Amino acid sequence: MVRCDGVVQIYQTREIEVVALRDIDLVIEEGENVALLGPSGAGKSTLLWLLAGLLRPSAGRLWLGGAEIGRLGQAALNRLRAAQVGVVLQNPARNLIPYGTATQNIAFAQRANRKRDRRRAGDLLERVGLTSVGDRPAGRLSGGEQQRLAVAVALANRPRLLLADEPTSQLDTQSGRAVVDLIRESGTTAVVVTHDPMVGEAMGRTVTIRDGRIGAEGRDGEDLVVIGREGAIQLPPEYHELLPPGTMARVEPLPDGLILRRADS
Ligand SMILES: Nc1ncnc2c1ncn2[C@@H]1O[C@H](COP(=O)(O)OP(=O)(O)O)[C@@H](O)[C@H]1O
Ligand SMILES: [Mg+2]
Repeated sequence: MVRCDGVVQIYQTREIEVVALRDIDLVIEEGENVALLGPSGAGKSTLLWLLAGLLRPSAGRLWLGGAEIGRLGQAALNRLRAAQVGVVLQNPARNLIPYGTATQNIAFAQRANRKRDRRRAGDLLERVGLTSVGDRPAGRLSGGEQQRLAVAVALANRPRLLLADEPTSQLDTQSGRAVVDLIRESGTTAVVVTHDPMVGEAMGRTVTIRDGRIGAEGRDGEDLVVIGREGAIQLPPEYHELLPPGTMARVEPLPDGLILRRADS
């Protein structure tokens, strides 16, 4: 469904260049649910924007469902996004048409379907607990309600790929759980940026980005370091005190791995 091969993203600002992502290698299979973790500024939103086709990588190659994003013309990219990708941006209001009601926002998201699925619109509103405010303009909903509506809107067209940037940040445990259940039960491939451990656990696979690189992956609750290009590894933060930056270490091979020992100990 998704393949990143050495993806690099550089933002040009007036004075400086910001390298937001460097050498991202990532494969996400159809149907996988991935939580994207990492500290603020790590590059999570940038990766999501790239996967959504809202940005094109500065370098490297990126495939979505078999199509290489960097080689598609703008019209083809727009068609691919409309047909296959549902996106929830970090700022919930930006996903919605403020003057449209909650129900109209979902109907608008379904406009590419010739047969509009009214039952599905009602079901989605119910699943995120917004049935009673279906006729209220989206701009007058609370932040948490907008966030829940944004997820319903993103799923309205049954996308193959759902990309959601911190979709539960303004939700209490119960509504957060409802949103996560909805995403999982939709059966769609999902990439969810989150700081919420509940979401991370529910997604099955976690990918942790630090400083623009994939540093770790988690499967079934176990965190594993990922060996990057040229053998680079990111030590988990809990070892930064033991082996701070600049530490000289000896590398001692074992049959199935390595030991890293401080040279001064
Ligand atoms: N439009 C932009 N212009 C310049 N720098 C940006 C822009 N968007 C993000 N950045 C920078 O890129 C890095 C990664 O940002 P981002 O992807 O938003 O991280 P995260 O979502 O993990 O907090 C940060 O250093 C951020 O300041
Ligand atoms: Mg972000």
